[in-house]
Order: sequence, then structure tokens, then C-alpha cells
Amino acid sequence: MTEPKQSRPKGTQDFLPPDSERKRRVEGVFRHLAERYGYREIITPTFEHTAVFVKSSGEASDVVTKEMYSFKDRAERDMTLRPEGTPGVVRAVLENRLRLPIRLYYVGPFFRYGRPQKGRYREFGQLGVEALGEASPLIDAEVIYFGTEFFELLGIHDCSVQVNSIGCRECRPAYRATLRKSLLERKERLCADCQVRIERNPLRIFDCKVETCRLAVQDAPTPRQYLCPGCERHHEQVLSALSRRGLHHEANDRLVRGLDYYNRTTFEYISASLGAQDSLGGGGRYDYLVEEFGGPDTPGVGLAIGLERTILAAPATPTPARRHLAFVVWLTEAEMGAAQDLADKLRADGVPAQVDYDARKVKGQFRSADAAQAACCIVIGPDELAKGIYSLKDLATGEQREVPSDAISGEVRALFRD
Ligand code: HAM
Repeated sequence: MTEPKQSRPKGTQDFLPPDSERKRRVEGVFRHLAERYGYREIITPTFEHTAVFVKSSGEASDVVTKEMYSFKDRAERDMTLRPEGTPGVVRAVLENRLRLPIRLYYVGPFFRYGRPQKGRYREFGQLGVEALGEASPLIDAEVIYFGTEFFELLGIHDCSVQVNSIGCRECRPAYRATLRKSLLERKERLCADCQVRIERNPLRIFDCKVETCRLAVQDAPTPRQYLCPGCERHHEQVLSALSRRGLHHEANDRLVRGLDYYNRTTFEYISASLGAQDSLGGGGRYDYLVEEFGGPDTPGVGLAIGLERTILAAPATPTPARRHLAFVVWLTEAEMGAAQDLADKLRADGVPAQVDYDARKVKGQFRSADAAQAACCIVIGPDELAKGIYSLKDLATGEQREVPSDAISGEVRALFRD
């Protein structure tokens, strides 16, 4: 084949078979599990009015300031390809006046303009759940547990869970003031971005990846040390509900997360095998977000898991050499109609089947069957038609035998080895 004139945009991926099938399997495991916890699927647009994200993800967050794919549409409206799912879900729940409490999940593509590297893409998949209208710490713990169960189901055992609490409207102002003061004392050691953050959103500094900033805030006061009694109690209950399930978690009192809407519980799943982009997913509580969208006082908690990172962290499943596919081969043009009928019958019986209608010769059809990685060929010639049998060839072993026509679907299915 000649080189294509166009290549895919930087930071995007082509999911080719069998990787596309692997991706779909992972999505399937997630959907199944989410539904087992009572979540129902929501599908929101892949782009929203820019204000939806600015208002919620946070004006000072990296996602909003540096990573959004924003554009003006032809009517000069400000639009943005969704960088995350939570704001769109909250907007949809309010706009459609959905009854609360409600549990929703989503699976789909998201877009962030970052520097592409392993595990970090400009278009990526997220698997997310949002529980709106539930305030109990037990739901925080359930959401956290849900994520670990998902990773376990996929055979990802090297995933640790970090948990923190970043306080609420009650305790945050005093904490912010203390943090601000402490950061001002070490201002010259912070990067230019963090120097701005001191005024705009000091908590964000804990999320900075610049080494000097990390060192500079090592002994800065953390939100955990300033929790009000209500937040302290909530946090203890989250932790004890996790312990009750035997879920080992690490306390990380610097875990503030990169988005602005969180309060109280924050958590992240970290994989030891992923390298720099080691966060498999994360989430937290966001009790003020619905209100910020103009809705009633409504608590919320949720998570999102990175699809590509999950695929990278999951153990490689051996891909079978042959697919569950039967290739119907006709000997002369006179049997093409019968080949078509047999393929239809197999499909009706739930057996994937394909015919090469273009090939002129049997050899060409066998080549097509091989290219399609079919498990077997079913050959129909004038003799077979007259005798009411088919010649079934197992393409893995090369074995060939005759099968009565009415037994064909069962015999083919028996050849599908895995
Ligand atoms: P987030 O931490 O920004 O949270 O993203 C969640 C996960 O999406 C990350 O842990 C990572 O696995 C994946 N991810 C993020 N950016 C990229 C990228 N550029 N390439 C590949 N994977 C990426 C949220 O988005 C929140 N909405 C989570 C949430 C839901 N909080 C409450 N409800």
C-alpha cells in the first residue's frame, strides 16, 4: 500500500481490530458493573457551550486555561469539545429536570489539548459515574469501591487508591488564608503559574508537577489538617466504610485533584505500571456544583476512569489466531445463491458468516477467508448441493470433513475454540 497523504492529528489514535474489540470489551465490563450498582447510561453532546466548563471545571484549572479545544461556531457562539464529563451531566440533569436522586454513567470520547505521551492523548475515552442527590459518606465509599472492583475485574491488581478530604465551605476559607500566607513566604521558589495560583486558587499548587513547587509545598499546611468537625466526621465514615470492605487505601493529604468543583472527599487510582501518567482514574464529591449551575442545593459524587490507561494497565489477553467467523465458499457461480442462503441461515442461528462474492476462483476465496482470519470454510459445490451436505474445513488444523446440511450451524460453533 502507498503512504496516505494525511496522517491522524497528533495525540489521537486509530483503534484497529483487535484493539478496537478490546476497547469495546473494557467498555462492556464497565457498563455491566455500573448497571449492577444501579447507574443508568446518559449520553450528552461531545461539545457544549464553553461556559459550562469554565463555570464548573474552574477558571484557574489547567483543563480550562490550557487544555480546552474551544472554537466559535458559524454563529459566533463559544463552544468547547468536552474535556470531562461531570459538567455536561449536571447541565443535562438540570435542563431535563430529572428526578433526584439519580445515578448516571457515561462512556465516550473526551478532548484535552495536552502534550501527548504514553497514556496521555488529545482524544481519549472516559468511563464515568455520577451519583446526584446523595449526601452520605457511604456513597463516597461505594463509588471508590466501584472503581477498584472494575480494575479487579480487568485483572489490574497493581492499582492503589489514594483518598483525601479537602474540606467544605465552612472550613476552606480559614484554610485558604493560612495556605496563602504560607505560600507567600516561599513565593520565589514557585513556578510562574503557581505564583499566580497563590491568589486565584492556592490549593491548585499541590497539583503542580514542577519539581521545585513540589519541594516548596512539602511542609505547607494541608486541607486535611483544617477540616471542620462535619468534614472530619464525613471523612472518618468514608474511611471506615472502605475498611469494612477490606479495601486498602492510602491517605494522601496533598490530593486536591485538578478540577475546581470538589469538596470533602477526593480520590485517585494510581497504577504502578503506567509511568508518568499513572492516574488510572479519580473523582470526588462536588456538593456545590448543581447550585453553581443555578439548580437546587444538591450533593453529588462521582468518578471517571481513563479508558486508554486502563487498557495499558490491564494484562495483555492473548488474541486468538482465528475469529469466530465462518467463510462460505462457492465452487461455481451456480452455487452463489446457495452460498448467500447458507450465510443468512448461519447468521440467523447466531454464527457470524461471510461470503466473498467478488472472487472468481476458489483459491481467491480461501485467501479472503485467511485474510479475515476465519475459523473455517464451508465449501458448496454441485455435488454437495445434490447430496445435501457441506464440506467443512477447519482453517486452524486444515482438517476437512462432510457435514449434513441441517447440522452445519452446530458443527461450526463447535469449531470456535475460544
Ligand atoms: P480527571 O482526573 O481529570 O477527572 O480525569 C479522569 C481520568 O481520565 C484520569 O485519571 C485519566 O485516567 C483520564 N485522562 C484524563 N486526561 C487524559 C488524557 N489527556 N489522556 C488520557 N487519559 C486521560 C475528571 O475528568 C472528573 N470529571 C472525574 C469525576 C467524575 N469527578 C467527579 N465525577
